[in-house]
Amino acid sequence: MHKSYQMGSTRVNVLEGANLSVRRGEFLAILGASGSGKSTLLHLLGGLDWPDLGRVLFEEQDLRAYRRGRLNRFRNRTVGFVFQFYHLIDEFNVRENVLLPAMVGKSVLAWLAGRSTPKRRADELIELVGLQDRALHKPYQLSGGERQRVAIARALMNRPELLLADEPTGNLDSATGNGILQIFEQLNRAGQTIVMVTHDERIAQMATRAVVLVDGKTVERRVG
Ligand SMILES: Nc1ncnc2c1ncn2[C@@H]1O[C@H](COP(=O)(O)OP(=O)(O)O)[C@@H](O)[C@H]1O
Ligand SMILES: [Mg+2]
Repeated sequence: MHKSYQMGSTRVNVLEGANLSVRRGEFLAILGASGSGKSTLLHLLGGLDWPDLGRVLFEEQDLRAYRRGRLNRFRNRTVGFVFQFYHLIDEFNVRENVLLPAMVGKSVLAWLAGRSTPKRRADELIELVGLQDRALHKPYQLSGGERQRVAIARALMNRPELLLADEPTGNLDSATGNGILQIFEQLNRAGQTIVMVTHDERIAQMATRAVVLVDGKTVERRVG
């Protein structure tokens, strides 16, 4: 993949031949210095942006060939996103934030007819991330670590085949960050495929595989 951004009169080359494959069941860490293109790469993997050159394939299919409906389903169901700054909706409580991906793309009638199943799943996920006592809290009533737990539960709502996380501990103190990483580790042990972007070398130690972005290219890195 190649990707560059135009900034005024200069062109910033971010990815210059980055190449990687993600295998089912693995926990892949993408490392690299700040500004090396990690978020850019993750957005390409999630179908949120497009490479200038090169392709992103999911199960052998080029995302570019997806029709609009298929692409929306890919973004909303096939992948789940966890961001550094949580991106929760302030007006919604924890349960509503977690439920949101299940509502997307459904008509009001379809949602009302089938909502009990997603509600049960949301409650299970809220328990999984240890927030059963916070289900009715709004994001501003939660700590950073708790907000990130909500974001993880939300990302899992539609049972994504691939969980993408962009520096999910980048904004947390190390003890809180460790709690978040433990959740990812548990999920991976239960079979969840994870790609996590980080500039923290320690996180690479818990991944099953790691690559480093250097000069716009991916370089395989030993782990463990
Ligand atoms: N939308 C954009 N427009 C212009 N430049 C961008 C844009 N997004 C990222 N960049 C630049 O691309 C480089 C890589 O950014 P990013 O992928 O966010 O890096 P990382 O996540 O590794 O810190 C940075 O120099 C950044 O300033
Ligand atoms: Mg980034």
